[in-house]
Amino acid sequence: MSDYETILVEKKGAVTLVTLNRPQALNALNSDVLADLINAFANYDADDSQRCLVLTGSEKVFAAGADIKEMQDQSFADMYKSDFFKGWEKVTATRKPWIAAVAGYALGGGCEVTMMADFIIAADTAKFGQPEIKLGVTPGMGGSQRLTHAIGKAKAMHMCLTGEMMGAEEALSSGLVAKVVPAADLIDEAMKTAETIAGMAPLAAIANKEMVNAAYEMTLAEGINFERRLFHGLFGTQDQKEGMKAFVEKRPGNWTGK
Ligand code: CAA
Repeated sequence: MSDYETILVEKKGAVTLVTLNRPQALNALNSDVLADLINAFANYDADDSQRCLVLTGSEKVFAAGADIKEMQDQSFADMYKSDFFKGWEKVTATRKPWIAAVAGYALGGGCEVTMMADFIIAADTAKFGQPEIKLGVTPGMGGSQRLTHAIGKAKAMHMCLTGEMMGAEEALSSGLVAKVVPAADLIDEAMKTAETIAGMAPLAAIANKEMVNAAYEMTLAEGINFERRLFHGLFGTQDQKEGMKAFVEKRPGNWTGK
């Protein structure tokens, strides 16, 4: 079913389920994983039959970080010349919605990937951390920025400087994750949420995602203007006409993505 070496990709109705699959290295994110994820996410974005994606790991570990064994002998020149970690911006450029479903460890790059998702659903076993300081380095895939945006300076600084992990309940109360569920229900709950999103008008899903993300990049006035213009733009779609007609007729919308 999967053409990939390090991930499993399954289409379940309108939802793509991507499972990180390097159990021998606790799903450490080496360049093969990045290449596979770039392909899988690009295929998802291009496939009109797919309307939401769930990225998950195993019960024990979402991902234990970037691959330390791949990095350990690299020089500054190697890292700088190859612009190591370049490519993850292709994953974050995915236009359609995707969810990280996290059980067990999400550490270093693993935590950083979960924060690239549109939102995180965590099992009660999830543990988030940025332990790079214990390796003599720092986060390198956006953790210092996205974690600070998500949970604020005090908690982000504490996590980055101590390398301590944050459990699922604290991640929920800190605003890092959207929902915590029992570990046994994680995939069912994430798939159910993804199916709900997949049932929405596709262009509206992209537009909602685009405008929430714009809140990180724009001033309030620019963001509000951006939101209003996108909102106006949706009145050029068939799905806006259908959605509002369906409401008035008290029936579900029948979306065309046009
Ligand atoms: N890279 C490469 N291999 C890793 C790895 C990683 N990030 N994490 C675990 N592994 C490997 C271990 O070396 C071990 O391999 P061997 O069997 O060949 O010895 C195997 O996976 C199992 O690991 P453990 O024996 O350590 O498993 P554990 O259950 O005792 O501990 C753990 C689990 C707490 C997650 C522990 O593995 C750990 O602390 N891992 C490293 C976490 C970390 O530091 N992540 C940050 C990486 S740097 C980074 O991500 C930079 C960035 O910003 C992008």
